[in-house]
Amino acid sequence: PPRRRLNRRRLLGGGAVAAGAAGIGWGARALTTRDEPPPTSAIEPFYGTHQSGVATDPQSHAAFVAFDLKPGTHRDDLIGVLKIWTGDAARLTQGRPALADTEPELAQRPSRLTVTVGLGPAVFTVAGLEHHRPSWLRPLPPFDIDRLESAWSDGDLLVQVCADEATTVSHAVRVLSRSVSSLVSVRWVQRGFRNAEPGRTPRNLMGQVDGTVNIAPGTDFDRLVWDDGAAQPWLAGGTSCVLRRIAMTLDTWDEIDQEGRELTVGRRIADGAPLTGSGEFDEPDFAAVDANGIPVIPPSSHIARAHHTHEGERFLRRGYNYDDAPAPGRISNSGLLFAAYQRDVDAQFLPVQRRLAEFDALNVWTTPVGSAVFVIPPGVPSPGGYLGQSLFE
Ligand code: HEM
Repeated sequence: PPRRRLNRRRLLGGGAVAAGAAGIGWGARALTTRDEPPPTSAIEPFYGTHQSGVATDPQSHAAFVAFDLKPGTHRDDLIGVLKIWTGDAARLTQGRPALADTEPELAQRPSRLTVTVGLGPAVFTVAGLEHHRPSWLRPLPPFDIDRLESAWSDGDLLVQVCADEATTVSHAVRVLSRSVSSLVSVRWVQRGFRNAEPGRTPRNLMGQVDGTVNIAPGTDFDRLVWDDGAAQPWLAGGTSCVLRRIAMTLDTWDEIDQEGRELTVGRRIADGAPLTGSGEFDEPDFAAVDANGIPVIPPSSHIARAHHTHEGERFLRRGYNYDDAPAPGRISNSGLLFAAYQRDVDAQFLPVQRRLAEFDALNVWTTPVGSAVFVIPPGVPSPGGYLGQSLFE
């Protein structure tokens, strides 16, 4: 839309309020202040074999945004959206404003910004590419513990935006949502945060050290997370994201004493050590029993149930806490944006989720209220390419 200038006279006459209400922006300005390049420590790469935001050391703020394709959207529109997001992300992540950025100053602090794009099942239908759809790309089967709300579930496209500053996340989300608003509509936005102290495992809002047992880049990570293209050659270097929004019932969790809390998870609250160990990273001994022959780590505890039964059942957890406004009469609305990344949802994530849905002592205080599955295409190797290109070629 054409920009209108606000002059001093209109501002002093109260015109700004009216103009603001009408959605009239400030004119685009040249960068005049603080336009020195951002420190390289604040920049995550955009180009590469894989998209950033998966193996990336988790930043402290995240927004997961799902979009729905507007009716009548075709294959070329999809390619258009992906090209626009590629251009926006390539610039914003490197501390440069997007094209037609209305707040270019906000791009100057990338704060390790990453933009990770995912595709939902409908993309393959709309683009006439069903034969390229990974076999696991569909909503998870329903579980008895689920109380899913459509407001937090599914979606045709995902944009995961992470950075160490919330302002940076907001700006990137706004740019990425606005630049494609004629073709897609926002379905849901889920914002989260986590402690991002290097070398220290963060805590979730139940107070537990959360993220101890995970797969780290440089280990089995490549094999467990990145697709090798064996089933779908276009997906080599890509992965999947399962996002579960899990509400915590903190008011009743508050009633449980320390010992009860520790038996529920199988780890100590103070330092996250397994009940059979003394340090956070000690291997839990699920076979250990006390003097009465009772297991030290209860078989019903979260870690006993979630622990992989074979190596191929592991995946990357990269979750964020959420803490939203409570409903009338309630005092909290908190939980976990549980984000899991794996090359095969059916083989890695699903068996663990099934086990937890069947029984997990933690289920008394946790309720899945949202669920979505996306394929994360490989990265853009170099300038000139676009996200998802290998799918459409
Ligand atoms: C471990 C919390 C949901 C899978 C843990 C730990 C905590 C925790 C405190 C122990 C520390 C660690 O290793 O990170 C929670 C909370 C949840 C939740 C509060 C819900 C609000 C889930 C879900 C899954 C899952 C939905 C998978 C479907 C795992 C796995 C481990 C784990 C695989 C490591 C188990 C091991 O091998 O020791 N979780 N979790 N968690 N959780 Fe969860």
